[in-house]
Amino acid sequence: MRVKKIDYTKYPLPRIRHHANPVLYFPLKQHKGNNFLYPPVYNKLDWSEIFADGKPPAMLDIGCGLGRFLIEMSLIHKDINILGFEVRQSAVEWIESVTSGEKLPNVKALWYSAVNGLPFIRSGSIEKVFYFFPDPWVKKRHYKRRAFSVELLAEIHRVLKSGGQLFLMTDVPEVDEFQRDVLDQYGKFSYRYVKQDQWELPVDTNHEEFCIRKNIPFIRMICKKI
Ligand SMILES: C[S@@+](CC[C@H](N)C(=O)[O-])C[C@H]1O[C@@H](n2cnc3c(N)ncnc32)[C@H](O)[C@@H]1O
Repeated sequence: MRVKKIDYTKYPLPRIRHHANPVLYFPLKQHKGNNFLYPPVYNKLDWSEIFADGKPPAMLDIGCGLGRFLIEMSLIHKDINILGFEVRQSAVEWIESVTSGEKLPNVKALWYSAVNGLPFIRSGSIEKVFYFFPDPWVKKRHYKRRAFSVELLAEIHRVLKSGGQLFLMTDVPEVDEFQRDVLDQYGKFSYRYVKQDQWELPVDTNHEEFCIRKNIPFIRMICKKI
């Protein structure tokens, strides 16, 4: 299959901060007054405003960062729509410049904080969810900023089709342990660590590519809805 190559140098990257305002890592409903800029929280989305074919997405990328994985998966899977969520607005705007510049009809990065759940995604409609190299938040007092939780897992479980998969990668052993604890606590996913030759995904993420280049070890896990 010939897949279009994107020349990302056509799209100059603005200065993108490593983190967003800390309040964005907590659900909007936890904030009393909000005199800060918070990404929109949706209950419903009109897919005809998001994807050219007006259909809902079949794959979700939570914390898509600069979107390389999202964009390149959309070039390979032209028959489905792929939706990413990213809390840093400037990263979303940059992805938008690429997807509109390249006229990609089946991919979108939404400025959204995943801690608000996925109420706008229909139950049992998603084939694959990706959650790659989440912010590690290594200090104990910052754990609460991690999006991975029993609540988010329950949402991922709800939106996945029967037998649907959740893919995880991390290069931080504490995050791996934390995610495993959450998976065990939730209990409705089977999971296994896989090596690169068992990894079914044809595209690397920005951070995965960085780890490979720098020889930084990381784990890959495939979780299956049970
Ligand atoms: C280390 S980056 C990895 C990006 C990408 N997945 C990759 O593998 O290259 C983690 C990303 O998750 C995003 N993120 C963290 N918490 C989030 C949340 N609650 N909702 C949406 N995105 C979030 C961060 O802004 C950041 O871009």
